[in-house]
Amino acid sequence: MRVCVVGSGAREHALAASIARSADVVATPGNPGIEGTSEEGHRLSSTAAPPEELEADLYVIGPEAPLVDGLADRLRAAGKRVFGPGRAGAALEGSKELMKQVATEAGVPTARWKAFSARELAQARSFLAELEGGYVVKTDGLAGGKGVLVTSDMQEALADLEAKLSGSSFGEAGRRVVVEERLEGAELSLFVVCDGHDFVPLLPAQDYKRLLAGDEGPNTGGMGSYAPVPAVDESVVSEVLDEIVGPSLAALTARGVDYRGLLYAGVMLGADGPRLVEFNVRFGDPETEAILPLLESDLVELLAAAADGTLGRTAPPVFSRRSAVCVVAAAPGYPAAPEHGGLIEGASRAGSLEDVHLFHAGTSRDKRGDLRSSGGRVLAVTALGQDLPDARRRAYEAMAVISFPGMQVRADIASSPLSSPAGAQ
Ligand code: AMP
Ligand code: GLY
Repeated sequence: MRVCVVGSGAREHALAASIARSADVVATPGNPGIEGTSEEGHRLSSTAAPPEELEADLYVIGPEAPLVDGLADRLRAAGKRVFGPGRAGAALEGSKELMKQVATEAGVPTARWKAFSARELAQARSFLAELEGGYVVKTDGLAGGKGVLVTSDMQEALADLEAKLSGSSFGEAGRRVVVEERLEGAELSLFVVCDGHDFVPLLPAQDYKRLLAGDEGPNTGGMGSYAPVPAVDESVVSEVLDEIVGPSLAALTARGVDYRGLLYAGVMLGADGPRLVEFNVRFGDPETEAILPLLESDLVELLAAAADGTLGRTAPPVFSRRSAVCVVAAAPGYPAAPEHGGLIEGASRAGSLEDVHLFHAGTSRDKRGDLRSSGGRVLAVTALGQDLPDARRRAYEAMAVISFPGMQVRADIASSPLSSPAGAQ
């Protein structure tokens, strides 16, 4: 069996590595880490050819942009078996307004919200003034993860609102916004594999979005993650499934959407129980890099069952009882203006350490075959351990083996894991 993985980051490398335990992988465009042969003897390769031109038994689409753009529909129309929602399902991430409409229709607990267009600045301002405690202003459309302002400063929220609606900060993507109240609590990522009828959760995880320790500095794509989350036991997972995921999928079905792929629920665990912050329509990055190395059952079987609509007849995924911590090495200048081209040393040595998985995020090989940084996030290192402190120690030990000029590593990943669902991290 041959599986095509679409994308080029550490998430796709983690997907490729798990898939290669039971199938060959061709990644497009892939990255220099996705190459060679797995321990089980399956081949991994990366190619510049577009997915439509590659023959595979299953297509797994990593990033949101091709999903929102309808790649899954095009592949399905050509008779391919695909893990990933079509355009209509992917709109859940492509439009924050649609996501909030679906949540509201489904009776899902979420932040109070309203959507506004460029001509409704006055109404948007007065809705902001009604909110208490904190403000969130989001571009309706995709903005590379940068379109969300969360603040307790009303003046900052007003300025951001005006910049977005006028088109000056995000162009067309910002000319429609969702304004909402700020939720308090600790954030949880729960990934759910869906087949259009049935769904099954993966391990709960947390990611670290800010650049610097102590949740300081700018927002990033994610500087690290861990799984599972000690405080999130089966009852919390069931609550998220029963109150958030199930009703939302039912609302999508009622809209005629056949959602086959990964639904990523970003949930705030606060004093009143879980509330939905966002849906993404794909595996999260870097949570995937922590979750998948713990998977003991066959990922290909699970993703193929979701693509085929046969999850109900497939055994649920089985995970190791160990813990995983993923730490990201980012380029100097990341996230505002990452510098590329730094010579990376120690990567293969780090990746060969016991219970360590090295995932390439933004790397390339130069003419001599040496590894160079070529992206904002450059590498992700995941270590498994008997518990989170053990996994954390191993992850940082492995990261200490790697170096490139100006490398940025956040020092407090998994240092104070969520221990009570109501407590902020
Ligand atoms: P989104 O693009 O909707 O995922 O938002 C990005 C991040 O902003 C989320 O992961 C949260 O950390 C934060 N965020 C979004 N909406 C809210 C909210 N209503 N209250 C608090 N934080 C939020
Ligand atoms: N971990 C955040 C994201 O994938 O959007």
